[in-house]
Amino acid sequence: MSSKKLLVLFITFLLTVSLITSCSSNNTSSTSQTPSKNEVVTITYSTGKDSTPATKKLVEAFEKKYPNIKVKVQELPNSTDEQHNTYVTALSAGDSSIDVLAMDVIWTPEFAAANWLLPLDDKFTEEMRSKMLPGPVEAVTYNGHVWAVPRFTDAGVLYYRKDIISTPPQTWDELIQMAKENVGKEGTKYGIVFQGNQYEGLVCDALELIYSNGGSVIEGNKVTIDTPQAIAGLQYLIDLVKIAPPGVTTYQEEDARNVFQQGEAIFMRNWPYAWSLLNSDDSPVKGKVGIAPIPRGKDGKEGSPVLGGWNLGINKYSKHPEEAWKFIEFVTSEEGQKITALEGGNLPTLKSLYQDKEVLAKNPYWADFYDVFITAKPRPVSPFYPQMSDSMQINFHKALTGEITAEQTIKNVAKDLSEILAKSGK
Ligand code: GLC
Repeated sequence: MSSKKLLVLFITFLLTVSLITSCSSNNTSSTSQTPSKNEVVTITYSTGKDSTPATKKLVEAFEKKYPNIKVKVQELPNSTDEQHNTYVTALSAGDSSIDVLAMDVIWTPEFAAANWLLPLDDKFTEEMRSKMLPGPVEAVTYNGHVWAVPRFTDAGVLYYRKDIISTPPQTWDELIQMAKENVGKEGTKYGIVFQGNQYEGLVCDALELIYSNGGSVIEGNKVTIDTPQAIAGLQYLIDLVKIAPPGVTTYQEEDARNVFQQGEAIFMRNWPYAWSLLNSDDSPVKGKVGIAPIPRGKDGKEGSPVLGGWNLGINKYSKHPEEAWKFIEFVTSEEGQKITALEGGNLPTLKSLYQDKEVLAKNPYWADFYDVFITAKPRPVSPFYPQMSDSMQINFHKALTGEITAEQTIKNVAKDLSEILAKSGK
């Protein structure tokens, strides 16, 4: 071979090596680094702190089934807002260290529009979707694509002390009256606990009262919150502060649960997960808790829980999308969702599990509540939801702490939401 030919070959070799290296270090590439047969791949699953054994059990069951995939759980703070901020920082910087992320239902439009997720249309097939509840499936769909798989759904519920209250209230007025009449019984100190901190949980509690009093927030692309029904709905929340612990304006889900579980409150607004913890062996209120649908306000036709829930998506920058998918497929399968239902007390998104004997034995109320759960009402669906939520969080919290009236609060929110919609071109 001539020296010239050798040189050309050498340069070609160098170019090829540099191309391969640059491809594999380019973290915008989502190509899986397929492991050899016995190689163990570790994926990182990022999720909020779990007070139940569910996450641990799911990972154990998955690793047993897929010995070649290890799951590292990256635990984030409990609050959805803090989790959201962690993801926004990481994903907007192209961070590839997270493979699977647990996503709140409210994030799909924002994350999809920002192009941070792998579309899952081919993996989460039509057939799989048809076995799930329609609301959660709709919540992972945006712009004609599916971006995540629903892991569990959520809907607000009312917990009450059945050793004190024989029939749960149908309306919020009844609830307030019952609380005032019965506080002090069985060592209780407060009428109700709920989520009054300035964060997403407060938005859920407030919207639940607004919806349950016949109000709405946005319809189509019109802001519809400025109505007497919404103002009166929010007024209930302000009135609840008077029968709640002084610290309620700083409470998140777990603060409320702890106070209720210690036997200090008659009522609690929370999500279904609390049920299994309230009935655990070391719980002071074990066997003393009843559960009822969210009451309605005086102007409302029916109590209307807010739709919550969590989905699993794949970071677009993940280096292990295939292994990440295997994990999602398992966690959202019947086997995985059963673990979540039994160990975590979270509502399945698979319709079949609402007929599963073991699941119903542990969560007996699910069969009766099915109709209520599936009508849970979403929060506004928009890539600009974080801005909308910020305005609601700030204003609702000011209302709770007595800085502004319910009427002023609703006016402020209506103005902010109209501006956000106008800016977003809607
Ligand atoms: C629950 C819900 C979630 C909601 C959050 C608010 O985790 O599932 O959708 O945003 O509570 O704190």
